[in-house]
Amino acid sequence: MVRQNLVPENIYRIRHATVMKGIILAGGSGTRLLPMTSIHSKHLIPVYDKPMIYYPLSSLMVGGIKEILIISTSRDLPDFQELLGSGSDLGINIQYLEQESPRGLPEAFIIGKEFIADESVALILGDNIFHGGSFREKFNECRLRTEKFGGANLFGSYVEDPERFGVAEIDSSNNLLNIVEKPNDPQSNIAVTGLYMYDGSVCDRAISLSPSNRGELEITDLNMTYVNEGRAELSIFGDKTIWIDAGTPDSLLKASEMVRMVQMNGGQTVACLEEIAWKMGFIGDNQLRVISEKYDSNGFYGSHLGSLIN
Ligand code: TTP
Repeated sequence: MVRQNLVPENIYRIRHATVMKGIILAGGSGTRLLPMTSIHSKHLIPVYDKPMIYYPLSSLMVGGIKEILIISTSRDLPDFQELLGSGSDLGINIQYLEQESPRGLPEAFIIGKEFIADESVALILGDNIFHGGSFREKFNECRLRTEKFGGANLFGSYVEDPERFGVAEIDSSNNLLNIVEKPNDPQSNIAVTGLYMYDGSVCDRAISLSPSNRGELEITDLNMTYVNEGRAELSIFGDKTIWIDAGTPDSLLKASEMVRMVQMNGGQTVACLEEIAWKMGFIGDNQLRVISEKYDSNGFYGSHLGSLIN
């Protein structure tokens, strides 16, 4: 765990502990998954037995986040609304807003400024899948730290091909020194994943960014505003936490294979939203029973939900 000199200095900055909200960014172009994405969002493509968006949504839910904003394109928002509605079936509150064109990840905080309303916020990319190991513990630890002390909490994962990602440079005490986007000569093999937590100042920081050469607002530029102030921490997932960016045909297949293997051989479910909602206490037994009847004809999903209440 990376610790910087955040605590003493920031104690004086706490006016009130905030309650973290969640944003799923599920727009983009999905060009790497064409022709699958010609008429639908990639986030609705199945990852084994569930639409892709179930996975990032489950990550926010296991972290106890109940106020969620989904940002997507005008083409795809009606599909997400049909799929997930107001979130009341899951005991959560889901709102929806449009991103007119894919102008970059930080635009989530410009579009979502009113939703965030100065609270802290977790952003998760709609094609990022996290599972297992200490994911939940790290999420909760960083959530609490962001809610209490502010700053940015980022999540790293060891990868074999760091040049494809934003790469974290850390010192021998694991302090986050720098993040370089897709470096030719990576200083580490720690990629910054698509899950980020920030204090409420993130909206103004996003507004003040300028587009990069490729015409987008860059998440690395946003993160560097915190790094330069010594207010960014990096939690690195261990080997047992799987992180997949499911945005290419191969990684999509890999994600499906992972979910199938965990569910069939490990006896656990992955991203079963109703189960998570019930275990988190967002819904009660009766609501789960009603939902499980809906899935009666789906062997694994239905019988699994049924078995929880029995
Ligand atoms: P990317 O995978 O970087 O981009 P993409 O989804 O447009 O796909 P491709 O590169 O194949 O064309 O986006 C990462 C995630 O962030 C993905 O879930 C889509 C989302 N996203 C937005 O919602 N808005 C944006 O402006 C960008 C850049 C990405």
